[in-house]
Amino acid sequence: MQHAVKVLISEDEIRERVHALGKQIEADYQGRPLTILAVLTGSLIVLADLVRRIGVPHRIALIQASSYPGATTTATTLVINETFAPDVSGRDVLLLDDILDTGHTLSALVRHVADRGAKSVRTAVLLRKVGRQEVPLEPDYCGFTIPNAFVVGYGLDYDDDYRHLPFVGVLDQQDQEAGPR
Ligand code: XMP
Repeated sequence: MQHAVKVLISEDEIRERVHALGKQIEADYQGRPLTILAVLTGSLIVLADLVRRIGVPHRIALIQASSYPGATTTATTLVINETFAPDVSGRDVLLLDDILDTGHTLSALVRHVADRGAKSVRTAVLLRKVGRQEVPLEPDYCGFTIPNAFVVGYGLDYDDDYRHLPFVGVLDQQDQEAGPR
């Protein structure tokens, strides 16, 4: 079932902000061995747009992190799949994710990449939700701060749909209550 989606951040706003972030990253990583490590699948769209704004040589790599609830506790286990992540030892790594929510995913990935021998590890997120963070982590690059709502579009999904939308939007409240998840 398709749900109504209300625009939260327009295509034009995203384009402008991603351009600015790209230029900031370009300035910060002049002459450095940069690897952009994007977290699957939500960051694919911002990755494609961002890297075309970064005019310094850099590598692109992908990593997957999935959380599974514990069988007997409320703790979750994060399983990291690095099939498409090359050797990052000695490289300046910029982890890119679609959204910073509780912060568990990104902070675990920062530790993981540091353990792999990266020269430095920084973080970039397209979105950051207010009032949700459980783990202290200040992203080095952040596109937009958004209210605590479930968002879709520009890579973000609901029930594996809506990633293709060119804007970031919020699902209609009534539809959301009636829908899956
Ligand atoms: P944590 O809580 O570890 O989670 O920061 C980050 C991951 O949770 C997913 N996430 C969302 N996905 N709309 C989505 O499509 C949302 O509003 C949302 N909030 C969290 C996302 O996969 C992110 O990488």
